[in-house]
Formats: sequence, structure tokens, C-alpha cells
Amino acid sequence: MDKLVIRGGKKICGSVAASGSKNSALPVIAATLLTADGSFAISRIPDLKDVRTFIQLLDYLGAETSFEGNLLTVSTAHLKSIEAPYELVKKMRASIYVLGPLLARFGHTRVSLPGGCAFGPRPVDLHIMAMEKLGATVTIENGFIDARINGSRLRGARIDFPVSSVGATGNALMAAVTAEGTTVLGNAALEPEIECLCHFLVKMGARIDGIGTTTLTIEGVDQLRAVGFENIFDRIEAGTLLSAAAITGGTVTVTGVVPEQLASVLEAFRQSGCSVTVSGDSVTLSTPTELLPVDITARPYPEFPTDMQAQWMALMTQAHGDSTIIDRIYLERFNHIPELNRLGAHIEIRDNWALVHGPQELTGTKVMSTDLRASACLVLAGLVAKDTTEVLRVYHLDRGYEAIEKKLTALGADIERQKYQEF
Ligand code: EPZ
Repeated sequence: MDKLVIRGGKKICGSVAASGSKNSALPVIAATLLTADGSFAISRIPDLKDVRTFIQLLDYLGAETSFEGNLLTVSTAHLKSIEAPYELVKKMRASIYVLGPLLARFGHTRVSLPGGCAFGPRPVDLHIMAMEKLGATVTIENGFIDARINGSRLRGARIDFPVSSVGATGNALMAAVTAEGTTVLGNAALEPEIECLCHFLVKMGARIDGIGTTTLTIEGVDQLRAVGFENIFDRIEAGTLLSAAAITGGTVTVTGVVPEQLASVLEAFRQSGCSVTVSGDSVTLSTPTELLPVDITARPYPEFPTDMQAQWMALMTQAHGDSTIIDRIYLERFNHIPELNRLGAHIEIRDNWALVHGPQELTGTKVMSTDLRASACLVLAGLVAKDTTEVLRVYHLDRGYEAIEKKLTALGADIERQKYQEF
């Protein structure tokens, strides 16, 4: 296995380009399953583990894919399977994104039920509800979601989501674009990754109104086409890199971003005393002598993202005062706390919120986490910790960050990937 060995105390300074977004790449790749027409060319696809797993799933289904230099070409003209097997779904829950497109195109699909998640329950009931509303019959048997259309096409419907769900909105969109008639998605997710999926579908020939709002109206079309498309930037990677500068007292410019899509995170940095300047498609952050504590509550976009909550907590261990952190999306997403405390942080969990006592001097040790953003949080802590921090099981980090140690090294970090064996 790989670990990252970090000798802390170096300031993160310089300029770095944001990679393409993982969480928009996955549904966009899934949407290529909607049409047998030609070949898609999608650029700015980040080269990371979850993307590779998704491409592996498409290959399994029979797609022809090639992925080089962040350009993915895909043709799904000759698929040979409509089933997403357990072996791939268990590697990555986002495999559920094939449910909507395969059902819409073939009238039948089987997707293995995703299992538990390291940071609490992550049900898929809303994905199933959406398919049923569109006229599918869904049964759960032998650990699979089996969805089939009664007739030749899905039928447009009104679907009101009781909670905002990125994945269920994405799946409903992909199922609805070729359904017969009109579909209205109420309380649809507003995340930029969903907006990106909408733009991709529209380029393919879909008719979607209300993009960028919580009500999406879709007029079903008969046919979609293969297109070229550029993926959006990864706002969570950008926020993580800005945090790396903030926690080490550095100054960093992240280029290739849409600053408005980072607004809640940039606002939190400003409140912590950082200077944040936006110029075109880049953001520059420089740090004050003393970071101020900032309370955050993670909620759906445009509020502070749950995927930045762990990184923010690492930062707050260095703030001069106490701060609170609440996650309203995943109430139990606090796996990183015991590991941060092993590095010398003083964080208490009270019911469903965390109280971070800052500032605390962190000192390096071996740490490990069970999910992607928690691992990013530990890397950030390692950058500021005294002595050497070893972040074990880096495969969690590799699922969602493209060349992270290379980017951090170029910005001045002393960080190295090494092999190790677990007992
Ligand atoms: C997406 O997951 C992201 N993953 C997650 O990113 C992110 O944390 C999450 O959205 C929230 O922003 C991808 O885009 C691949 P949801 P998703 O459905 O779509 C509840 C990362 O680190 N819910 O928006 O699975 C759910 O339990 C990751 O990159 C249901 O109750 O999240 C949660 O409380 C991890 N029933 C809330 O909705 C359902 O059927 C929002 O989840 C679906 C969701």
C-alpha cells in the first residue's frame, strides 16, 4: 500500500491549476450511456481512482473507452450488459449513476445495491422513488436494484424530492431526458456538478429549463447525440489547496476556477482573517498572522459543502479560539476527529457537532482514515504538524485528488509517497 510521508512546517506558496471535478465527471460519464450515437470526447476529466473505476464499469458494460491526458473518449454504441455488478459498485457508490441512463435506453437494468459508507448511512431510496415516478417497476432482489419499464419508454412525471440529493437529481435527470412528455423535478439539487450535467445533456440534445434553480423542467426528446464537452473545475480540490496555504501561513493562487462556485468557502476564509482576492478565473489567498475561529454548518449548495468540512476542521485547529462544526448532510461525518486528536488537536464531539479548541500545536505521527475527505484533512494537518506525519491508506485520497502530492510539492511541501506493508 502507499502512504504519504509529510515533514511539516513548510509554507504552501505559489500558483496551481485546479483539476477537473470528480463529482461532475462521474454523472457526465454515466450520461454517455444514453445514446448509441457516435463517440463522445470529454476533456478535463481528472485522472483519479473513482474516475478509473467508473471507466472500468463502462468497459464492463461493453463501452469502448480511451483515457489519456485528461481526455476521455467513449462510445457506448455496442453495449453487452445492462448490469452494474457488486464488485464495481462496492468500490464506488457513484456507480448508481448508471441506473437512470441504462433504464431509459434499454428499458431494464440491474444495479447492485451500494453497501454502507464509512461516514454513516447513505440510502438510495430517492433514486428508486424517482425511477418509479417515471413509470418503472423497481424490485430489490438478490442484492440488486432491478428496474424495468412497462412499455417502451419512461413517462414524464412530477418528482418532489423530500431532501436535496445530488445523486438522485442526477439519476432522475438522465432518466427523464428521453421520457415521454414533461418531467418536473422539485427541490432538485443546485450543486454546480448538477448544473454541469444539465449543460452536458442539453448539448446532447436534451431540453431542460430552470438550470441552476431547484426546479428543473425536462421535455423528453426522442434522440440524443454524442458530443464534445469540457468538464468543470473541482471546487473541493480548490478549497483543499486554499486550506493548505491557510493552515501553513502561506499564499496560494488557484487558477482555472469559477470563484462564485466557491463563494461559501471563500467567505469562511475571509471571516478567518485570510485575504482572498478574485481575479477572473483565479483566486489568491494569503494568511493573517493569527487565524480567527469560524463556525461552519455544512448544507447543500450554495452553503458550505460537506466535502470541505473535514479540511475546515483541520484549519480550525490552528485558529485562535474555539469554533463549532456541524454537518447537516452527513450527521456522523466525523471520522477524522480521533485522528486529528492523535496529532494533538483538541476536538470534542457533542451530539452531532464538533467543538474545536484552537490553537493547538500538532505533532506528527502515523494516522489513517477511512474516507476521502478525512484523508485530505489529515494531509493538511500533516503540513502544519511538527516532525513527520505518515498518512496511511492513501488510496482513499487517490479516489478523489489528482496528483495531490505533486501539486503540494510544487507549492513547497515536503511530502513523499512511499510503499508500506500493513501487518
Ligand atoms: C454526492 O453524493 C457526492 N458524491 C458526495 O461527495 C457529497 O458528499 C454529497 O453529494 C453531498 O454533497 C458524488 O457526487 C459522486 P446526496 P450523493 O444524495 O449524491 C440523503 C466526496 O467526498 N439521501 O446529495 O450520494 C443522504 O443520506 C463525496 O466527493 C437519501 O436520504 O449525496 C444525504 O443525507 C462523498 N436518500 C443527503 O440525502 C437517497 O436516496 C444528500 O446526499 C439519496 C440521498
